[in-house]
Amino acid sequence: MAVTSPIVVEPMQLSDVAAVHEIERLSFSSPWPARAFEQELSTNPMARYVVARREEQVLGFAGVWLMVDEGHITTFGVHPDWRRRGVGRRLMLELMEIALELGAARMTLEARVSNSAAQSLYQRFGFEVTGRRSAYYTDDGEDALVMTTPELRGPSMQTVLLVERARRKGG
Ligand SMILES: CC(C)(COP(=O)(O)OP(=O)(O)OC[C@H]1O[C@@H](n2cnc3c(N)ncnc32)[C@H](O)[C@@H]1OP(=O)(O)O)[C@@H](O)C(=O)NCCC(=O)NCCS
Repeated sequence: MAVTSPIVVEPMQLSDVAAVHEIERLSFSSPWPARAFEQELSTNPMARYVVARREEQVLGFAGVWLMVDEGHITTFGVHPDWRRRGVGRRLMLELMEIALELGAARMTLEARVSNSAAQSLYQRFGFEVTGRRSAYYTDDGEDALVMTTPELRGPSMQTVLLVERARRKGG
């Protein structure tokens, strides 16, 4: 019987940056340069970055800045070969666990108005559209939707977290 290795989500290391940058390159029209991740990992005490890994392979990554009482998601991507297999969910759950542990009251992020895949994932995690930033993306002038969760410790987000934790346990 074939045994499938589990997907684990753990802190990003400097040695992950090349693989992360490759996923960025495959995912975004204006990817962050690799040195931006290196700087974030080395010098930004407000930032936390995670990767989803199966055996040695990096499948996806995500980052959050803890600003006052808000967890602001800075970047989020899954390798094209691994999308729609629950990796994004695992990454988002981990960011929320980190934010809760560090005392954030809610999470927020920006998403391209055209990025319905990302918006759909975020809505599943309780994010609601709370604003719009005009011409936010400098490469093509697209607007961003601002999406924010209710209180992480409130009943609706606790339900989301319970469901996602149970799903993670079930593999
Ligand atoms: C958005 C992204 C991170 C989702 O990652 P993923 O690993 O495919 O997401 P999951 O498999 O965990 O999906 C969880 C849920 O999100 C929603 N979702 C994810 N991709 C979707 C798509 N292409 N269309 C519609 N809904 C989608 C679904 O509700 C899905 O649940 P389901 O598969 O049970 O229907 C991935 O598509 C990606 O890396 N895109 C390019 C980079 C990007 O846009 N990053 C976000 C910047 S704001």
